[in-house]
Amino acid sequence: MAAYKIIDHTYDVVVVGAGGAGLRATMGMGQAGFKTACITKVFPTRSHTVAAQGGIGASLGNMAEDTWQWHMYDTVKGSDWLGDQDAIEYMCREAVPAVHELEHFGVPFSRTPEGKIYQRPFGGHMSNFGEKPVQRACAAADRTGHAILHTLYSQCLKHQCEFFIEYFALDLIMENGACRGVMAWNLDDGTLHRFRAHKVVLASGGYGRAYFSCTSAHTCTGDGHGMVARAGLPLQDMEFVQFHPTGIYGSGCLITEGARGEGGILKNSAGERFMERYAPTAKDLASRDVVSRAMTVEIREGRGVGKDNDHIFLHLDHLDPADLELRLPGISETSKIFAGVDVTRQPIPVLPTVHYNMGGIPTNLYGEVLRPTADNPDATVEGLMAIGEAACVSVHGANRLGTNSLLDIVVFGRAAALRAAATLKPGTSHKPLPKDGSDLAVSRFDRLRNANGSMHTSEIRLAMQKTMQMDAAVFRTSKSLAEGCEKMGQVASTLPQIKINDRSTVWNSDLVEAFELENLMDCALATIVSAEARHESRGAHAHEDFPDRDDVTWQKHSLAWVENGKVKLDYRPVHTYTLTDEVEYIKPQKRVY
Ligand code: FUM
Repeated sequence: MAAYKIIDHTYDVVVVGAGGAGLRATMGMGQAGFKTACITKVFPTRSHTVAAQGGIGASLGNMAEDTWQWHMYDTVKGSDWLGDQDAIEYMCREAVPAVHELEHFGVPFSRTPEGKIYQRPFGGHMSNFGEKPVQRACAAADRTGHAILHTLYSQCLKHQCEFFIEYFALDLIMENGACRGVMAWNLDDGTLHRFRAHKVVLASGGYGRAYFSCTSAHTCTGDGHGMVARAGLPLQDMEFVQFHPTGIYGSGCLITEGARGEGGILKNSAGERFMERYAPTAKDLASRDVVSRAMTVEIREGRGVGKDNDHIFLHLDHLDPADLELRLPGISETSKIFAGVDVTRQPIPVLPTVHYNMGGIPTNLYGEVLRPTADNPDATVEGLMAIGEAACVSVHGANRLGTNSLLDIVVFGRAAALRAAATLKPGTSHKPLPKDGSDLAVSRFDRLRNANGSMHTSEIRLAMQKTMQMDAAVFRTSKSLAEGCEKMGQVASTLPQIKINDRSTVWNSDLVEAFELENLMDCALATIVSAEARHESRGAHAHEDFPDRDDVTWQKHSLAWVENGKVKLDYRPVHTYTLTDEVEYIKPQKRVY
């Protein structure tokens, strides 16, 4: 093996990822007095949070009466009773102060004529325990994530947090089950870096790119999930993959649910507003799993639009063009560029598109990563935290409500910093790292860099993406999932045949993509194997051979350990209790919208 020069760093806290979750945690750690580093493979303001459009959920009640208890009820119902209710209570309670905090940090929210934060309706958000849609999504036009990301980055700079930009995190440094730091590769000069820290916070985002068509950035490659899997820790609820109803047909670009919040409607080839049949109360604003399934049924039954009857139209052309310009400027532009459509006159061709991973690295509501055991399903891993889409707290359960991801990232980014402040003193001295602490990362780096097989990364990646798209789709069957497991096993077995053409260590995007593929592969395997095993339908997991939700057997979180292309499953209980006695556990009910 080549000798690699390793540069050492010591911090109280290292955050991996600079999306909204990573930046909120980094800022909070800096504020608490911790020497904090944030490692990120892209420039912070280019992180995928920049793409979040429609809003952040909080029961401010600026447009109509609203309460955090209603928000909690909607989130539990949206999660199809797989969410942990203590964590959901925490998130929905904290939503209001979290949005006010963002406002004070300088997020340029849209305003009502009286100057309050503007709020729009969003799927699954209702007033009075499911009665009728409520305006709960706090919006900065249709660029809410962009506004939040830029504001949080400026707050981090204010708190003297240090950034390692365009550094690719390779692997965790583990010792006797505890996390002691993380290894990273500086893409710009090719050096390897060993970060020692009392706490490593994974905020590395989702793994949408395991699928062929998704709204996720090309950087959403499950890097934190891969590091966790290689450290022998499980991933949770990976079978729950959200399809957003309105990705632009062909390109997959996101058209915000806020478009339907502003009055947009979905129509089939008969010009029918078909959602009225599927969700008589919420209609086009039912939760995403419900709308995506309805669209898929319309297409399957021959009522899709276009020459191949394979998509659906989203109409905004009946809305006032001035409102479209004010409230939805971003998606008006995106529709023009990616669909050639003028939204004031023509419908947008849309299709359910992979958008979000409800599953991820299991944590408690403080952001601490779990290593569940038979005796203690909530046991934690010393020194390791995870937040944002990388994590599974679990506040989204089997299906996330729109606007609850921006909320999740700021609430749990802050919670992680508060937990660190409660459990660690800034400047606490460090033990020396184990001698072999960086071996896994360095040997993996050397192996992949010199990989000389016969298959290009793109070839293996495409096979994985096509398999996931086909066999772990909106609707799943025992047959499609069994075939998917078989095919994914074969695809994963080709990883050792990877060929890297560029052997350099500087800006070697060939090598970056190979590392990303290894991370994606673990995620894809965990997803399809967990899905095949879950014999019920719940939230985004719509299993046609088991069409009902089965709370007796399946109200439990899946755990998947991935090692060398093989997946081992186990389960842990859902938290069927609340955090305080101010609200009661919401018992499972039939979901009606
Ligand atoms: O539709 C959207 O604007 C996406 C929001 C979300 O995923 O929360």
